[in-house]
Amino acid sequence: MLLELQELSIPTLDNKKIIINKTNFGVKEGSIHAIIGPNGSGKSTLAYTIMGLQNYIPSEGKILFDGKNISSLNITERAKLGITLAWQEPARIEGLSVRKYISLGIKDKTNLEEKIIEALEIVNLPSERYIDRFIDETLSGGERKRIEFAAVVAMRPRLIILDEPDSGLDVIITEDFFNIFNKIKKLDMTILLITHREEIGMVADYGTLIWHGETLVTDEFPLVMLRYCKKAGLKEFCKRTLYRNGKACFPEDYIDRIFSGEENL
Ligand SMILES: Nc1ncnc2c1ncn2[C@@H]1O[C@H](COP(=O)(O)OP(=O)(O)OP(=O)(O)O)[C@@H](O)[C@H]1O
Ligand SMILES: [Mg+2]
Repeated sequence: MLLELQELSIPTLDNKKIIINKTNFGVKEGSIHAIIGPNGSGKSTLAYTIMGLQNYIPSEGKILFDGKNISSLNITERAKLGITLAWQEPARIEGLSVRKYISLGIKDKTNLEEKIIEALEIVNLPSERYIDRFIDETLSGGERKRIEFAAVVAMRPRLIILDEPDSGLDVIITEDFFNIFNKIKKLDMTILLITHREEIGMVADYGTLIWHGETLVTDEFPLVMLRYCKKAGLKEFCKRTLYRNGKACFPEDYIDRIFSGEENL
């Protein structure tokens, strides 16, 4: 496991409430692992705690990265180990050229231009059209998101945590997402993906379902989705969404039996 959470509990800053209660799950190296759950269930809290943001301090349990307990490391130390939280502070990059912005995160500057071009191509932006643009209001929302993501990819972190900002990802279409993520996987990066768009979750290999601070299940993603849909009463949505490579993950009558209670998950 690249990342492992053991009995991790996260309280609110004033310690009055537990947001995440004794969670246990692992993220396999090289996989895409999605965290799903309703609003307010604790997904962002978990993401911020893994990254080590200020004010997100576990009250018990451990966070292991590559087998090493990182619970007491600060955000900079975690970043040095290769953990990245994407789409955090987009405001800071305003006014830089795309080339400059992407180059900032690349440590080894040999073949810099090729590395920048590769990063742009991974996010499906033709490099010749974008490398000399500036990061300002002339870029569309989707272009901007892609460029921000290209900069993350160029850093070659070992773990990318993607917490969907309110509407940030809506501008990128699903097929494109699959394509981008599959390219990233080939580069041996691991992705922890938090999304409300469950159809995007279908790109994930594994998933964890969080429900009001409790992690209910960690398994292959379609199974986790099925559990989520059952719990949320989303039968039709489930039938519509649980497809992989154009094929339904589960037969319809099986989904019917799960929802009627004839069959247990
Ligand atoms: N400082 C705080 N004091 C009290 N409650 C808090 C505090 N911080 C977070 N919470 C609560 O913790 C819960 C988890 O919040 P979190 O942002 O992690 O949820 P989420 O799963 O990311 O939700 P969403 O899907 O809406 O993004 C929410 O109910 C939130 O109101
Ligand atoms: Mg959130």
